[in-house]
Amino acid sequence: MPSSRQYKVPRIFAGFLGWWDNRTPYAISCNLLPHCRVIYETSSVMERNNEFDPFADIYNRYWGADYHAQAFPIVERLLLSRLPAGSPILDVCCGSGQFTAMISRHGFQVAGIDASERMIRYAKENAPSVHFAVADARDFSLGKTFNGAYSVFESLNHIPSASELESAFSCIHGHLAPGGAFLFDLNREDAFLVYWNETNAIVDSGNVCVMQSEYDETTRVGTCKITAFELQDVWKRRDFTVRQTCHDPQAVSDALYKAGFSDLCLYDAADAGMTGDIAYARTFFVVKA
Ligand SMILES: C[S@@+](CC[C@H](N)C(=O)[O-])C[C@H]1O[C@@H](n2cnc3c(N)ncnc32)[C@H](O)[C@@H]1O
Repeated sequence: MPSSRQYKVPRIFAGFLGWWDNRTPYAISCNLLPHCRVIYETSSVMERNNEFDPFADIYNRYWGADYHAQAFPIVERLLLSRLPAGSPILDVCCGSGQFTAMISRHGFQVAGIDASERMIRYAKENAPSVHFAVADARDFSLGKTFNGAYSVFESLNHIPSASELESAFSCIHGHLAPGGAFLFDLNREDAFLVYWNETNAIVDSGNVCVMQSEYDETTRVGTCKITAFELQDVWKRRDFTVRQTCHDPQAVSDALYKAGFSDLCLYDAADAGMTGDIAYARTFFVVKA
């Protein structure tokens, strides 16, 4: 995952995790070191829209503070400033709700949806006054209209295809009042080529999380294999995968217009004021319903 660049890990360690993976049939425990008993949990093939469930604890604890702080002024300038104060706004793919909470603190009536039940559980803790629902961006109906909507932190790169992106855009369009605005950001291919071809880790006294990313230029899919150890009464291991698709900008634009949006404006994140790794090869899209 591009935003967790805490440690670069040599491939040999990542390779060791793979080796261990192959040799551990299911739920065994082993004594590697005194006080370091490891229980291995088998990974399961996840439905795509649930893929953040096993990642939610780590995401909620470590992810996004820098991105959210830098994205807020951009969302404020490009979206919030164009809406009446206190407007209803929809956070699409709201994740664990930290950004939703920031928007809510600025007086907007925010609602949030996310496909991951566990992410929504954290969102309810992080923004208790916000209404959250577990829903898939490609097919949802809240029975309510909003003046604005946003989907930040490259969430729509998690939608696998242009046709599914169009379904998501249609659902979002259907929830916006005429003239309402929608903002989202996507990683461009240069970001995949750099940040989805590395191995990173998070380490603290109770957690070790190794993320091995690989970008396939043919399929334009980035795959991040994550191995997480958490110290409970024993060390517990989980393995799971998170994927992003690098959407062709023309296909994104076509999908937006087919869904009924107009007046597309594009902003490069660095030009819009972001700095550092998170600004690299990221585009903010703003459209009108
Ligand atoms: C990178 S996180 C960003 C979360 C949040 N927007 C933030 O700024 O922290 C991507 C989120 O998109 C959600 N997601 C992925 N595919 C989805 C879908 N089809 N419908 C709804 N949510 C989805 C994931 O569950 C995850 O919470």
